[in-house]
Amino acid sequence: MHLTNDEEGILKGDHGEGAQKAMELLVAIGEAFDAERMIPVTRAHAASSGQEGDLFFVEILAKGNAVCKIPTTTNPIADFEYFQKIINIAEEHEEASVAWRTKEYYRRIGAIMSQSCIPYLAENIPEYGEHVAFSESSATPYVNSVIGALTNRESIQTALAAGVIGETPEFGLHFKENRVGTVLVSVETNLKDGYSYSLLGQYIGKRVNYGIPVLVGITKRPTIDQYVNLCAMMNTSGAIPMFHIPGFTAEAKTVEEAFGGNTQHDKIVITDRELHQIEEELQTATGDIEAVILGCPHYNLDQLNQLAQLLKGKKIRDGISFWVNTSATTKLLAERTGYVQTIEESGAHLVVDTCIDMFCWNHLKGKAGMTDSPKCAYYRRFGPVKVGNMQECVASALKKK
Ligand code: F3S
Repeated sequence: MHLTNDEEGILKGDHGEGAQKAMELLVAIGEAFDAERMIPVTRAHAASSGQEGDLFFVEILAKGNAVCKIPTTTNPIADFEYFQKIINIAEEHEEASVAWRTKEYYRRIGAIMSQSCIPYLAENIPEYGEHVAFSESSATPYVNSVIGALTNRESIQTALAAGVIGETPEFGLHFKENRVGTVLVSVETNLKDGYSYSLLGQYIGKRVNYGIPVLVGITKRPTIDQYVNLCAMMNTSGAIPMFHIPGFTAEAKTVEEAFGGNTQHDKIVITDRELHQIEEELQTATGDIEAVILGCPHYNLDQLNQLAQLLKGKKIRDGISFWVNTSATTKLLAERTGYVQTIEESGAHLVVDTCIDMFCWNHLKGKAGMTDSPKCAYYRRFGPVKVGNMQECVASALKKK
């Protein structure tokens, strides 16, 4: 791999130990993928988890005086203060301490503490054609496909290292020719809401595993939450870094263009039967539920509006805990617009900065739960679980008349 004099200097430690470690990681990745050089990136998103592996690397960088050179946002970890008010989380809890320290080190290296898993909608929005380094399940396919920015499927650490150096090794999806479709997905079912897109993503991820699907049969432009759900689930049940919906996503107007002229590719057909089958695989609860979690990925403003309409003037049943995750930025707007009050008056909790994969949900262990997110079901925060759309989740939690 060819490095410039400046890059060699960073690698030798001329800019401090933190930058050196970041550069070592990027060069190692570049060499593993036969990159010939580093290229500039203009923004990064580190899918911080607040767990041991995350802490390990950010601590090394921060103690080595590394500082983010480009806007670098963070993923949700947990809003402990909020949970401490509602349920009893001991501050000395080992996992809490790891998460606290992780957040502190991200602050020290100058990351933007967005703590959102949808940063590409508000806090860190790339442009078409911009080279970036974005980790996070929905973020990578969203910025590649919907926006047309260029990123590989980064880890927390490689995205963070790119944020510190302002560069990434040039390979994979940074080349136009690697962004063409590998499999045709014929969608022959009616996708009526964000939840249908979650199931679609869950199915595609499982079937394709790794590749670039080209979706045909979708006749209406997906809404933002539909795109977000599709991205999150495809890149969780599988490892899908981008996709095309010719005519709607950023880079291909036609199927031919999406495949780059290649006519040799696999084909998958998805009908009601496949979506029903994937939904049934996720259902493990029967009977009444005791908890609901929505907002994995974080709900956007429009989803909070829909939820507020469903909960308006209604009450959550006694014995049910009802949780909705969103970003702090979205909550601020929702507060000003009046949605937060309506949601909280029903007895639901609106939580910011928090990921479903955190210990603050341990109090739900063993309870029968419901969610509109296959990803949340996958993380097994509940005992048995039901999945359904937002309306079904709300209906199962409301007081019966
Ligand atoms: Fe977001 Fe965590 Fe779910 S990052 S998508 S809340 S698992």
